[in-house]
Amino acid sequence: MSTTLVTNIGTLVTNDPAQGTGTGPLGLIPNAAVVMEGDRIAWVGEAAAAPAADTSYDARGRAAIPGFVDSHSHLVFAGDRTEEFNARMSGRAYSAGGIRTTVAATRAASDEALEANLTHYLREALRQGTTTFETKSGYGLTTHDEARALRIASAHTDEVTYLGAHIVSPDYADDPAAYVALVTGDMLDACAPHARWIDVFCEKGAFDGDQARAVLTAGKAKGLHPRVHANQLGHGPGVQLAAELDAASADHCTHLTDADVDALANSRTVATLLPGAEFSTRAAWPDARRLIDAGATVALSTDCNPGSSFTSSMPFCIALAVRDMGMTPDEALWSATAGGAAALRRTDVGRVAPGARADLALLDAPSHVHLAYRPGVPLVAEVWHRGVRTA
Ligand code: NIG
Ligand code: FE
Repeated sequence: MSTTLVTNIGTLVTNDPAQGTGTGPLGLIPNAAVVMEGDRIAWVGEAAAAPAADTSYDARGRAAIPGFVDSHSHLVFAGDRTEEFNARMSGRAYSAGGIRTTVAATRAASDEALEANLTHYLREALRQGTTTFETKSGYGLTTHDEARALRIASAHTDEVTYLGAHIVSPDYADDPAAYVALVTGDMLDACAPHARWIDVFCEKGAFDGDQARAVLTAGKAKGLHPRVHANQLGHGPGVQLAAELDAASADHCTHLTDADVDALANSRTVATLLPGAEFSTRAAWPDARRLIDAGATVALSTDCNPGSSFTSSMPFCIALAVRDMGMTPDEALWSATAGGAAALRRTDVGRVAPGARADLALLDAPSHVHLAYRPGVPLVAEVWHRGVRTA
């Protein structure tokens, strides 16, 4: 297999403390080089000590980071919600009800249109450094439409999540129990072969604690692993349920009691924070500092969707998290890479180390700190994905 040396990296973030020359979880290496072999990393270290490779590429002093791991997005959809956004910016509150608009547009779209839309946003994300992403169903809410969303998504990623329990389908408005029976019955049977994860929007206006437990437990019995949309719009049972069921992550975590924070700190469940949603719904920010200080593992993700967070930009989320959620630039970078990997229970991505996938983002900047220091500036200059320079 052919090898490629990327050399003359100004500062490399490895997320592997054992490799770094300093202290701290980022494992920073100044004047670094990386050797890729096929789609894997074969060697990491100081440029002066790098072995020879078949081809050599000069990073010209740019900083390099692991490709971003966006562990929460909703990219199988059609249409947009510009009017709803406009109304919100004129004072209307966000509610889960807007999801119905996207459900109608998604059901009406062809497979080809959904595929083209998904590909468009994936390219957009890749250009901004995202090399691993999770995405969900949840805008179909029929057995046919949920299964086709997952089928389309699974052609692009292994991290596919069944979210039939996004809201109660409008077709079942008068009988939510019958909808939960569908989501945990025929719909689950049709969807489970195409997904790795099962998710539920546990929130007032969507599914309560008992319904959420029924959904996640049924999914687990079919071999899917749980993750939960929890405590976004208000306090509720979502976070505790996620920890109790060993969900890989509890996502949003905007409204937390001390008991919720304790539950996250004392479980394997990652707290995935989605600052694009608070930005775009003008809501209070989640308190990352409180979670980190309590010992919880925190991930940052985009939540990219046409309603509550229409951004595919991990750098934007990093800047918000640093400015408004109490994270240091180092913590935010870690959460957007290694944290996302933890939320997907992956060890092969989110770090730059021998054996890991060869995913790197090169920044037009001397260090990763500039991602928060220079918000809104397109600093991701090049992306290496599976050992290939793509963007
Ligand atoms: O994660 N919270 C539920 N689902 C999405 C919003 C989806 C939408 O508004 O279309 C979220 O924010
Ligand atoms: Fe979401």
